[in-house]
Amino acid sequence: MPPADTIVIVGSGLAGVSAAGTLRESGFGGRIVLVGEEPELPYDRPPLSKGVLVHDEYAALVASHLPTDIALRAPDNITLRTAAWYEERRIELMLGVRASAIDAAAHRLRLASGLELTYDRLILTPGARARRLPAVETGTVPVAYLRTLRDAIELRRHLQPGRRIVLLGGGVIGMEVAASSVLRECQVTVVELATRIMSRALPAETSDYLAAYHRAKGVQLLLGTAASAQAPAGAGLQLADGTTLAADLLVVGIGVQPDTQLAQASGLKCEDGIVVDACGATSAPDVYAAGDAVRYPDAFFGRMLRSENWMHAQNQAIAVARNVLGATRPYAQVPHMWSDQYDLKVQVSGRYDTAEHVRRGDVARNKFLVLHLEGGRVVGATGINEARDMKYAQRLIEARTVIGAAQLADPAFNLKKAAGA
Ligand code: APR
Repeated sequence: MPPADTIVIVGSGLAGVSAAGTLRESGFGGRIVLVGEEPELPYDRPPLSKGVLVHDEYAALVASHLPTDIALRAPDNITLRTAAWYEERRIELMLGVRASAIDAAAHRLRLASGLELTYDRLILTPGARARRLPAVETGTVPVAYLRTLRDAIELRRHLQPGRRIVLLGGGVIGMEVAASSVLRECQVTVVELATRIMSRALPAETSDYLAAYHRAKGVQLLLGTAASAQAPAGAGLQLADGTTLAADLLVVGIGVQPDTQLAQASGLKCEDGIVVDACGATSAPDVYAAGDAVRYPDAFFGRMLRSENWMHAQNQAIAVARNVLGATRPYAQVPHMWSDQYDLKVQVSGRYDTAEHVRRGDVARNKFLVLHLEGGRVVGATGINEARDMKYAQRLIEARTVIGAAQLADPAFNLKKAAGA
């Protein structure tokens, strides 16, 4: 592969920033341009549904409820890197502008501003967009989505004590916003199509545990329930069974769609995500991709996968940036996600769709780990407030360690030692 003079990155989220930093740290001395549609200095998204919503006059209350540093970061403190960090690394930021077309043969990227950039390598990290629910958008009750910092700041304005907040979708966003809304003393109802909350992210046992926790905090959960439209005259939300739910705000969190618009329009292979190989190369020459927008071969469990989580966005971007510079090392990462709700840290690693599982810890004390086993190996783990053991579980998953269910179920069994930590 001929050396590169200019590497352009499209997408200024965690993946884009991680790629840019890795290129420099790996010794790349050429030009790095980071193009981003959002005008803000690149920021971290996890706090948007937590600290950003609850922080301000409720700071003391929040401090007593939310355990992690990420959850506690204030809105003005969520940038991924300082402006000086980009300057020191000579990473040129072109923010507030969308890339509109790739001419892969000519190695040229066109921006919506009309500017054209010539690249030697291009890395696409465009992320994902909130799926919309047009059926409920018509009416006088305000409707909010949550994906960007602007969305979060707008949503926060509505979270005033006593407000009736109806969340459509009981996924990661829905349940985090539910917890934040409770902390802001709102009346919260979740309308979820599936029969349990966070069904994409969590196994049934943990999902049921979390549902009970939310109910105990006063959240009304309407599971297996569909909404049809806004009720007439600002009365709220009309459910499919004809009943009306009073609402001052509707928050829609029904999943995301990978932002494949640029890639698709430019002829890159896309299948619910930009298709890449194990090293992050797309179907176009010298064009790579990483993060939420990408469908990639998952080395651990042997399937094509699109991952929507922080760890993946960061780690795939790091791996791909190294490959862009010639490393040819396949990306392999056990999927891992976390969510902070009230004083709970929920974590999931690997696969949980197995017939066998073992629970360690104490559900009544809100501190437990469920290990998911297949063929005598730990292939996944789900944890509540068990961040330390979760780390060891991840090592067991990565190492494909053979270990007996009886051993794992023994509270005296040392997980740290088994993980070789
Ligand atoms: N009405 C009600 N619920 C719906 C509807 C609908 N019309 N359509 C989908 N749902 C539910 C799904 O059953 C699912 O439980 O919405 C939920 C969406 O959950 P997620 O897939 O977790 O998506 P979301 O919560 O929007 O999070 C989006 O942000 O933080 C990240 O990791 C997170 O990638 C995820 C993204």
